Amino acid sequence: MEQRTENGAAFKALLSQSREQVEAALERWLPAEDRQPETLHRAMRYSALSGGKYVRPLLVYATGQALGVTAAALDGPACAIELIHSYSLVHDDLPAMDDDDLRRGKPTCHRAFDEATAVLVGDALQSLAFHILAVDTSIKIRAELRVKMIATLADASGSLGMAGGQAIDLEADGKGDDFTLVSLQYMHSQKTGALIRASVRLGALSAPDCDEALLTRLDHYAANIGLAFQIRDDILDIEAPTDILGKNQGADIARNKPTYPALLGMDGAKRKAEQLHEAALDNLATLGSEADPLRWISAYIVQRPS
Ligand code: IPE
Ligand code: IPE
Ligand code: MG
Ligand code: MG
Ligand code: MG
Repeated sequence: MEQRTENGAAFKALLSQSREQVEAALERWLPAEDRQPETLHRAMRYSALSGGKYVRPLLVYATGQALGVTAAALDGPACAIELIHSYSLVHDDLPAMDDDDLRRGKPTCHRAFDEATAVLVGDALQSLAFHILAVDTSIKIRAELRVKMIATLADASGSLGMAGGQAIDLEADGKGDDFTLVSLQYMHSQKTGALIRASVRLGALSAPDCDEALLTRLDHYAANIGLAFQIRDDILDIEAPTDILGKNQGADIARNKPTYPALLGMDGAKRKAEQLHEAALDNLATLGSEADPLRWISAYIVQRPS
């Protein structure tokens, strides 16, 4: 992907390093395919190791490393957030929700397996995420911070986070531009923003000495890029061809979903994403070059091709 900064090569290296790191860790945590029940384990691996962009793990690593945490100590939180994200996509694609048949360039989980298996894959990926945060001995923080991590992931995943946002999204099906900007922003910040914020927070909580003021600034950074992430997703649904996107182009329009382009027009949606990127960077102003990866990620989010 092209970056607007001179750091395109550094960002690409970071992206592939983080992908390799989290894929190796996911390999270790996910039960083997030949372990009973084989079909469920095969479907879990099919869904969680299917070549996503791994943006949330990247945020965990970039945040933690900016605060001096080792990559090994961040593997657990990186896996946990990615597992919740993958589960959310498996359920998002179900016929009862978005009814999509293509994900990451492959048949969706319920198409490759069946609906009941896809429901169970979501359940089991979610449980595995919390198991990892509870037991991973590479997470080097005191028990109190570990509990905060577990609560962070629970809150971001539940009815006041991702699952709640998905509920609002379902109610909004067919409403197109008949939705206020305030409602749209709330829905996006829950269904997508909550897990992005949790990614940054899990990275920050991995540093035993991250103070509240810095946590707050990082949270504002994350809230901005989280909203920008879903705006870009809405834009790509219109602009990106299916083979680049790895999911069917035009899925939102087909279901007449309220989106940023539907409410603000394409140019307005792109301007909004850029403003959020700038606001995200403002929140990193007190940090030095150790936070450059977080700056690059923000730039990437608003111009990513898929
Ligand atoms: C897609 O997320 C769903 C949204 C929350 C917008 P990603 O674009 O991160 O999906 P993958 O993991 O890279 O496939
Ligand atoms: C999905 O939003 C958000 C979550 C899975 C929580 P979308 O429905 O827009 O995601 P895509 O476009 O199918 O990836
Ligand atoms: Mg959806
Ligand atoms: Mg969808
Ligand atoms: Mg979408």
